Amino acid sequence: MAEIDIWTEKYRPDTLDEVINHKDIKSRLKAFVEEDSVPHMMFAGPAGTGKTTSAIALAKDLYGDDWKQNFMETNASDERGIDVVRENIKNFARTKSINADYKIMFLDEADALTADAQQALRRTMEQFSENTRFILSCNYSSKIIDPIQSRCAVFRFNRLAEDDVKDYIKRVAENEDFKITQGAVDAVIRVAGGDLRRVTNILQTGAIQRDKIEEENIYDSAASLRPEEINEILESALDGNFMDARDELSELMIDRGLDGQDVINSIHREVFDLDISEEGKLEIIENLGEFEFRIAEGGSSDIQIEALLAKIADLGGR
Ligand SMILES: Nc1ncnc2c1ncn2[C@@H]1O[C@H](COP(=O)(O)OP(=O)(O)O)[C@@H](O)[C@H]1O
Ligand SMILES: [Mg+2]
Repeated sequence: MAEIDIWTEKYRPDTLDEVINHKDIKSRLKAFVEEDSVPHMMFAGPAGTGKTTSAIALAKDLYGDDWKQNFMETNASDERGIDVVRENIKNFARTKSINADYKIMFLDEADALTADAQQALRRTMEQFSENTRFILSCNYSSKIIDPIQSRCAVFRFNRLAEDDVKDYIKRVAENEDFKITQGAVDAVIRVAGGDLRRVTNILQTGAIQRDKIEEENIYDSAASLRPEEINEILESALDGNFMDARDELSELMIDRGLDGQDVINSIHREVFDLDISEEGKLEIIENLGEFEFRIAEGGSSDIQIEALLAKIADLGGR
């Protein structure tokens, strides 16, 4: 079978210098490398902004060719539980580090752990801190218990700047030899924001299918609704045509294989441009949060999205 490159791996920077944005973070991390003194750290911020990338780049800068033996990545929210996570840490920490005084354990999604599991993690961190440095990655630092936070140097990863994302898109397009229209570039940024993993995946999906990527291709490959579609659905709902809104939305969801989270993301993106009052927008946003939570908690995507539309229709009727 012919191998296809996964672009998120192909374009992952190898060194801290190549990481896009995050100037201050990079210079602090580079200082750790120069002094060969790495503290426990917490990388907090939205998805696709370079948390994992920066941890790997740090390990490569620090250990050179030995980085793989001295660096391990584990998902903290491993569904088999904190015991499996601790077992992984123990096995890794027990073996000797190669040409180094300590190894680095990168724990992804640490904020998915319950407070109790985090306490267990904290004890494990202490047990192995002699020869292991921990980097915890999370979306929200506030979800990490204080005793862990206070032991870590905290780094906040912001969303990448739009111009940097544009430059990145241009670079990938030149390198992979495909064309992309200005409208499509704007659409990628609209859909993916500063999430460079999504940006990269959308580009790769688009480029597999064609040599020239245009705006409409983006919404198809991004599991996303077009701005006009969202406007139409929301306006129908707000005008009291709940059934129309529901039918149109469910058809689009089936057609494009969207789940509830995709729909919520799409609506969230467009809500600010709707022609309704500021209070109306705020109420919709509040409801998006509520329904996102319910879906995350296991509520049926279809039913929750329908209930969300009913809520929005109700807003319009007042
Ligand atoms: N700051 C960045 N500089 C360069 N590439 C990045 C950056 N952030 C994300 N990427 C790209 O997006 C992909 C996902 O990034 P990753 O570091 O895994 O994000 P996360 O913050 O979710 O850990 C990587 O493969 C990388 O190519
Ligand atoms: Mg990551």
